[in-house]
Amino acid sequence: MIFFAHGICGRDNRWSFYLVDCQSALTKFPSMKAIISILLSSLVAGMAYSAPDAAALAKGKELYDGAGSCIACHMADGKGQPGSVPPLAGSDWLDNPDRTIAIVLRGMAGPVRVNGKRYYSAMPPQLLFDDKKIADIVTYVNNAWGNKGAAVTAAQVSKARENLPPDVYTPEAILKAFPFDKKLRRNNGTFTPDFDDFLADVAEPVVYRTFMPGASPAAFAVALPGNQYYCWDAGECRLRYAWSKGGFIRGNQVHWSSNGKPVAKFNGIPYYRARSSKLKPEDYQHLAETGRKTPFYDTTEAVDFPIEIEGVDELPKFRGYRLVQGFPEFIYKVGDYEIRELIQASQGNLGITRKFAISPKVPITFKLTPDEAATYSSSAGTIAKDGTLKLTAKQAMEFQITVSEKNPASPVTIPTEAPKK
Ligand code: HEC
Repeated sequence: MIFFAHGICGRDNRWSFYLVDCQSALTKFPSMKAIISILLSSLVAGMAYSAPDAAALAKGKELYDGAGSCIACHMADGKGQPGSVPPLAGSDWLDNPDRTIAIVLRGMAGPVRVNGKRYYSAMPPQLLFDDKKIADIVTYVNNAWGNKGAAVTAAQVSKARENLPPDVYTPEAILKAFPFDKKLRRNNGTFTPDFDDFLADVAEPVVYRTFMPGASPAAFAVALPGNQYYCWDAGECRLRYAWSKGGFIRGNQVHWSSNGKPVAKFNGIPYYRARSSKLKPEDYQHLAETGRKTPFYDTTEAVDFPIEIEGVDELPKFRGYRLVQGFPEFIYKVGDYEIRELIQASQGNLGITRKFAISPKVPITFKLTPDEAATYSSSAGTIAKDGTLKLTAKQAMEFQITVSEKNPASPVTIPTEAPKK
């Protein structure tokens, strides 16, 4: 007998969502012991201040200059690029090595002032380097081009990697965690942008928790390399919509300060839209409207969670997410079953691939929403015309669903099991 796993209980889910927030707050303010060891490690860094190790400097330069490394944006002379990438040579932002480590590990996106000049861009997290390599790079940057600054240790980077919240930093958030002293604050910090174009070309995944149109308050907006974008709703534990044209969300000044009611804006029209009992097809016509005052749909009351698990009649609960090579993997539970969903750009960047792992073993029925603008394929089972995919317990352990945008201008090769119109 099959029971349907119903949508989301708003309460529980929001609670678990907030729990995740609490956890990241806790990692920001760890135990006294951790605080003392962080203080100790900055003392160690302080001691090394006067004499950066020559081998570390040489290694740091080599890594900085490597293909696709810092040099690609900040340039060999550390001067950055006028209007788009701030300088590292002479940058006041290098006053605190822990802030620099945090920027390198998590990235930063949003309006910044560096030495009195304005930039409004995004630096993706630098995922290629282990702790020692980041330590050497930061040590090098702190002491190249006439800079005089701290040497950084792998232990410092390792501690930061463990303790920093997982999201890409907004300037506001990073300055709260690592403020400037009064003197530097005059020329450095964030500003209120008077234009809102953002992220023309995405090189690495960018993950925001923000208010998104057509989603519950617990939404993620994610940009993938190849300029694929999607909104994943943690309130309802599901992919809500995906789009590819028109760019990522526009960072109007209010939504950066994550308490704001106004939702993020975007220009695209979603090609994938998960319908739910709370969203009608025509609602999607309004998603791209700018300047919405109503913040979001409360989809947490929806009763049609798309993954039905045999024998389970419970609401899904969001358990958090982790980054797998920079790509977010969402983790949620339905009854005793754990579902992991890792989303990446599909080959050729014509859509997205959702990799699922369900444990323990159980048969499932997956209800995809058929859409004129998208085609689906699955690595297991056959997707019926109405979007239903039934999987055996073995198949459901690991499978992937590719959602491709129908785009006559650049034809997509669809595997045979995709629904035919
Ligand atoms: C893809 C381009 C890109 C790469 C690669 C990159 N950065 Fe950045 N970096 C930026 C941009 C853009 C900003 C400003 C972000 C903003 O506008 O919020 C920035 C800001 C910074 C800042 C703070 C502002 C300043 O100028 O001092 C530091 C420090 C920094 N980057 C260090 C690094 C280091 C070290 C590396 C290599 C490990 C690196 N960056 C790699 C683009 C990049």
